[in-house]
Amino acid sequence: MTTLANLNHEILQCQNCELAKTRTKVVPGEGNENADIVFIGEAPGFNEDQQGSPFVGAAGKFPDELLESIHLDRTKVYICNIIKCRPPGNRDPLPQEIESCKRWLDHQLDIISPKVIVTLGRHSMARFFRGASIGKIHGTAQTINGRTYFAMYHPAAALHQQSLRKTIEADILKLPGIVQANEVKEDSTPTEPKPEQLSMF
Ligand code: URA
Repeated sequence: MTTLANLNHEILQCQNCELAKTRTKVVPGEGNENADIVFIGEAPGFNEDQQGSPFVGAAGKFPDELLESIHLDRTKVYICNIIKCRPPGNRDPLPQEIESCKRWLDHQLDIISPKVIVTLGRHSMARFFRGASIGKIHGTAQTINGRTYFAMYHPAAALHQQSLRKTIEADILKLPGIVQANEVKEDSTPTEPKPEQLSMF
């Protein structure tokens, strides 16, 4: 299997969709190749597109504070996005952009093989919890085939709606327990996923 560095090098050359024409830099993702936790945001914004790193500048401040609140930092986790290039004007990613970027994210997850995936925002959530509503499932986790999926609001949502800040701060505090619960499950007999859970993918 290729290394994450090799894969990310390949992602940097990607020409699979129209965003290749408008991006400044590709933003594959950053962090620990052996991370137990992968955070998946939506798409690079202006600063990310300039720097080639996820959640930098103002967009990175709150996520960094959230990590600190559970005694983590970027060196211990992996942070990436559903799509690797900035949509012009920060518009929502188009379904075909998400689709053509899917294989990169899938390959990254194969290599990192995290215990827990944290989805940030509804686009990232929709990739793993199909048909779910963020208002209903934020702060909840589902384990399928040994991997736990934990849905959170996007940190930027707190900028638009102040009351969500407290919700996001409270949700992240559940994460250490969720990682621990996943480890306990790993030690016991694996349970078969229910058919309706599998159909969420
Ligand atoms: N928002 C995201 O979803 N990802 C980034 O990298 C920056 C802002």
